[in-house]
Amino acid sequence: MNKSLRKAVIAGNWKMNKTPAEAKVLISELKEKVKDANCDVVICVPYVDLQVALEETKGTNIKVGAQNCHFEKSGAFTAEVSPIMLKEMGVEYVIIGHSERRTYFGETDVTVNKRTLAALSEGLIPIVCVGEYLEQREQGVTEELVAMQVKIALQGVTAEQMKNVIIAYEPVWAIGTGKTATSEQANEVNACIRNTLKKLYGESVANGVTIQYGGSMNAKNADELLSMEDVDGGLIGGASLKADDFAVIVNAASK
Ligand code: 13P
Repeated sequence: MNKSLRKAVIAGNWKMNKTPAEAKVLISELKEKVKDANCDVVICVPYVDLQVALEETKGTNIKVGAQNCHFEKSGAFTAEVSPIMLKEMGVEYVIIGHSERRTYFGETDVTVNKRTLAALSEGLIPIVCVGEYLEQREQGVTEELVAMQVKIALQGVTAEQMKNVIIAYEPVWAIGTGKTATSEQANEVNACIRNTLKKLYGESVANGVTIQYGGSMNAKNADELLSMEDVDGGLIGGASLKADDFAVIVNAASK
C-alpha cells in the first residue's frame, strides 16, 4: 500500500463566504476542534480574510491558503493578486483552476499552468483543481479529459517541484450539488491522475503526490471516501463553513 507514503491534506475552500469578523469566529471555533489532527489542515479563505486568518491561526496547526493568484509578480492587472504578495503575508497554499474560476471567469488549462508555475516559483503550494462536467462523464471521456488537464497544468513543473504540488479531483457535477462521487468513482479518477503523474515523473514521484477529492464531501461520507487507496485528502466547500463538520472530516483523515 502506497497511501502511507503521502500526506493527507484536508483543505477548506470557503469560496466567497465569511467577512473578516465572521472568519475570526469560525477559526476560533475550529482551532480547538482540529488541534490533535494527524493530517495537514488548510483553510483557503477570501483575500480580505487572509490577514485575520493568519493572525487567528498563529501557533496552531491550521495553515492558510488563498483561492487564486495571478501569474505575474506585479503590474497593470486590476483586482489581481500576485503570489509574491501572498507569500509575504505568510500564506502557504493557493487553490488554482477551481472549476468555478474556469466556468465563470474564463480560466483555461493554459492560465492554470501559468498560475501553477508562478505559485511554485514563490514557494506557495498550489492545489491544482481538475474535473469533468456531467456531460463529459456521460460521454465517457472523464479519464482522458482529466489526464489532459493535469498534463497541461503541469507543463514545465519539475519532478522536484512536484513534492510541493497537490492535485484536487473535483467532478463539476458533484460541487455544491449534494451529489457526491461514489468512493469507487473518486478512487478511479484519482488513480488515473496518479497514472498520468507516473508517466510524466516516474513511479516514486507519483506515489508521493497528495491527490484530494472534492465535491460534496461532508461529515457523513468523508470516512468512506478518505479510506480509498488513492484519495489522500479532501477539498471541502460547504462543509468547511461549519466548524463541527469540518472537524469530523479532519478527524476522518487523521485515522
Ligand atoms: P462543496 O463541498 O460545497 O461541494 O464544494 C466543493 C468544492 O468546490 C471545493 O473546492
